[in-house]
Amino acid sequence: MPLHERQVPDLKIKISVNDRAFDVEISAGETLLDLLRRLGFKSVKHGCDTGNCGACTVLLDGRPVASCLILAPQVDGSTILTVEGLAICGKQLHPVQEAFIETGAPQCGFCTPGMIMTAVSLLSENPDPTRDEIRHGIAGNICRCSGYVKVVDAIESAAKKLCDRDAGHDE
Ligand code: FES
Ligand code: FES
Repeated sequence: MPLHERQVPDLKIKISVNDRAFDVEISAGETLLDLLRRLGFKSVKHGCDTGNCGACTVLLDGRPVASCLILAPQVDGSTILTVEGLAICGKQLHPVQEAFIETGAPQCGFCTPGMIMTAVSLLSENPDPTRDEIRHGIAGNICRCSGYVKVVDAIESAAKKLCDRDAGHDE
């Protein structure tokens, strides 16, 4: 049979996205970014598609990754968190989201979901970062609008919120 007439078998993978289980058909060349957007997680942005801007950042098994650089077949059996899954019980915004809003860090907002996912990961590893550590932590997330000052303010504020929450203090 000529090559062009051969049927390419469908690939099926199982993933969990924001605590929802998906059993999906994919093509071998589909990226995780395209898959997530196809499943409706539109917070995951197409920026550079080359791993350089951070707009497509999600947590893959708890680690921040550029989803444009990962092929869907590689994530079979994995757990993925996008910004849509951060809200507590689907209602109350996560402290990092609250801090971004309160400080006015989002301008056009295109970079914000990826920036927030990077911030969540950063604060889980380093709950009390210095401003330099925050700048270093978000170095892979490009923002064209904010000049980064308010983004760093937001992450600093989020660190305090998370610390207060973990200590059981109300603001
Ligand atoms: S779109 Fe993935 S890093 Fe830019
Ligand atoms: S707020 Fe516009 S790119 Fe960051």
